Amino acid sequence: MTRWLVIGANGFLGHNALHALPGEVHAATRGGRHAIAHGSTIEVDLCNPRAAAGAIEALQPQVVLNTAALANHEECELHPELAQQINATAPGVLAGIAHQIGARFIHISTDAVFDGRSGNYRETDEPEPFSVYGQTKLAGEHAVLQYASALVVRTNFFGWSPGGQRSILEFFVNNLRAGIEVNGYSDFTVTSLYVGYLLSALDQLARQGATGLLHVASRDPLTKLAFGQQVAHEFGLNAELIRPASAAIGAHATSRVLNLSLNCDLAAQTLGEHLPTQAQGIAQAHRDQPPQPTTQ
Ligand SMILES: NC(=O)c1ccc[n+]([C@@H]2O[C@H](COP(=O)([O-])OP(=O)(O)OC[C@H]3O[C@@H](n4cnc5c(N)ncnc54)[C@H](OP(=O)(O)O)[C@@H]3O)[C@@H](O)[C@H]2O)c1
Repeated sequence: MTRWLVIGANGFLGHNALHALPGEVHAATRGGRHAIAHGSTIEVDLCNPRAAAGAIEALQPQVVLNTAALANHEECELHPELAQQINATAPGVLAGIAHQIGARFIHISTDAVFDGRSGNYRETDEPEPFSVYGQTKLAGEHAVLQYASALVVRTNFFGWSPGGQRSILEFFVNNLRAGIEVNGYSDFTVTSLYVGYLLSALDQLARQGATGLLHVASRDPLTKLAFGQQVAHEFGLNAELIRPASAAIGAHATSRVLNLSLNCDLAAQTLGEHLPTQAQGIAQAHRDQPPQPTTQ
């Protein structure tokens, strides 16, 4: 049975990890908030990660999974020094602590290390981030990969989040259920993986002792528009409410087409099976849907 420590356990991925990873799962959150875990909760503040070395050592995890980040693009642009500390400096310090206690370190990175001009990016392709978020996440990868036993996983994921509003799946399900019209970007393509599938892959990679850099995402690229239409189809909702739109004129304006799709051939080879499609992930998310609040 693997003993995990999940850093960032109140976040979208961290929260899912606490509930889905098999084995003994401990949580690390920053002060003041506590995750519901079947293990214990320790405090790790990425502004001062060295302070947590003793607590991490005392837990003796076999695998440390770092899901914590400053993951909001706008926040990163507004606070680049904080983004550098949380996304770049802290992961290197935490990977060093894991190395010292003989634990594996799995660090979550992003497709946003690429510029989105070509898509189908392999691990050997040169990253060229266009945002502070992407730049600092790339620096975090370099800091972590100094340690030979570390694994960096670039991904993009969707699923059910703690507050019910964090992921693109919830964006479409919540709005379409309420009969609200939404934009579906036809010029923004990603290979988003259902979070449950991502966590199964991380568990398998940990057990295999995988190291280095891997792209773990869905095997098929979809535009945000096509994703929304697939969600509508799967959940029996009205796809006519999704207006085809351009991301270039939205809040995340980049003034060009973005294709951040990741090529997962190496991960498939390592895992010994193809990664699922986005439609399969949406169908699995439907089966895994948390109970809906009943209306009186
Ligand atoms: N969401 C996606 O589709 C996506 C796509 C590609 C890559 N990623 C990567 O996947 C990982 C997880 O993303 P997510 O969507 O789960 O992010 P999230 O929901 O924003 O969670 C990030 C977590 O980091 C924690 N955190 C932030 N600053 C901290 C600090 N100073 N000390 C300790 N903890 C701190 C937050 O704690 P609080 O809860 O206390 O604020 C939060 O729980 C990140 O590395 C992100 O870059 C995400």
